[in-house]
Amino acid sequence: MSDYRIRVLDEDEKRAAQDLFLGSLHAAPVTDEMWEYSSAGYPAERCFGAFREGRIVGSAQSFAATMAVPGGAVLPLAAVSRVGVRADHTRRGVMTELMRAQLRELGEPLASLHATEPVIYGRFGYGVACRGRTVEVEATRGRAVPPLPGDGEIRLLETDELAVELPKIYERIGLHRPGMMSRPRGWWRMVVERRLAQKDHLVAAVHSGPDGDDGFALYEATTVNISPDQRERRLDVHDMHGASLGVVLDLWRFLLGADLVRWVRAWGRPLDEHVELIVPNRGDCRTIELTDETWLRLVDVPTALAARTYGPARPVVVEVHDRFLPENSGRYRVGPDGVRRTDASADLELPVDSLAMLYLGDISASALAATGRLTVREASALTRADRLFTTDRPPNSGTFF
Ligand SMILES: CC(C)(COP(=O)(O)OP(=O)(O)OC[C@H]1O[C@@H](n2cnc3c(N)ncnc32)[C@H](O)[C@@H]1OP(=O)(O)O)[C@@H](O)C(=O)NCCC(=O)NCCS
Repeated sequence: MSDYRIRVLDEDEKRAAQDLFLGSLHAAPVTDEMWEYSSAGYPAERCFGAFREGRIVGSAQSFAATMAVPGGAVLPLAAVSRVGVRADHTRRGVMTELMRAQLRELGEPLASLHATEPVIYGRFGYGVACRGRTVEVEATRGRAVPPLPGDGEIRLLETDELAVELPKIYERIGLHRPGMMSRPRGWWRMVVERRLAQKDHLVAAVHSGPDGDDGFALYEATTVNISPDQRERRLDVHDMHGASLGVVLDLWRFLLGADLVRWVRAWGRPLDEHVELIVPNRGDCRTIELTDETWLRLVDVPTALAARTYGPARPVVVEVHDRFLPENSGRYRVGPDGVRRTDASADLELPVDSLAMLYLGDISASALAATGRLTVREASALTRADRLFTTDRPPNSGTFF
């Protein structure tokens, strides 16, 4: 690694970094038209590059956002992406040093990413903190879906309204679930405006309740070949958020009632979005996949632990092991009255990637213990930890980057 230098990129190096990242994914360099959109989200001062003999050979990028944690507090978050090393420089520790620079220098107490290769990130202290389900539902084709209580209305936006209205509605809905994250302007530009510029036929349905717009679904119709001479239409839902579960289920009812459509499919949906309970036959709803939706890193463990609330139980002493950022290692007394470092003996011990799985409420302490990811030193502490870390709703981010 001594031949490599890790440093923050200059603005005029960002495009080379993006081409390098795309190349690591076996993709072609970015076009001029798309660069206008994909350069928007990742500021140069947050992009790290690895250089050898003056040439960029690796990059790890991020944008600044915030994330809701259990209890409703919102913490600064580094949203990490575009991690790639040129194929002729891999397995020499380049990514490891990029990750180290990123976690040490950015300053946010949380970092998150979406992993295409799940074996990589545990060693850097990331753990899966939110899961999502890919669900496909038979459209109703005229069969009635029982109406839900409530008096919401749904309208379609004009295409030129999408990029303006959806960010406003997302902002209005707020970060009401653990794991939800803010979306900077650059995110909308990279994700929605880029697709509109590509002339993708995105459609947005907006739900309005008594207090105004409180949910939306962004979707696109695709054609599925089910045999050489038979094709069916499916609505693919790219983005769907609502102020409450009822609002989101109303959006589902609307989508399922669309004419000339055989299925509606959505990705990364929260585990408590019970769409099977609103269709005439629950067999019409299939879970296709459970996905690791968000990998989370507690970069500043004391700050992260202190920011969330805990359920009613006597405190436990948790010993955290963090090999990558050793200043986080130590014992923490965690209780409903708060969190502090302590010299008391540990009830439970776990590595920092397991703590990330526990933190937003996705996995219980008992499940971590049963799978060997948490060591129990005091048996009665395990049930207390389950009560302390449990949350009302499963976490979900709902934002891909
Ligand atoms: C993944 C990638 C960034 C790794 O970069 P790298 O510089 O080779 O990584 P390092 O040399 O720092 O490896 C660190 C550790 O991760 C392991 N590792 C790295 N890439 C891995 C992979 N694809 N699969 C499994 N293990 C991997 C290494 O074996 C090493 O393990 P060790 O610490 O036990 O020795 C690089 O291979 C790449 O760009 N791949 C294609 C793009 C990609 O997959 N990006 C990540 C998207 S989530």
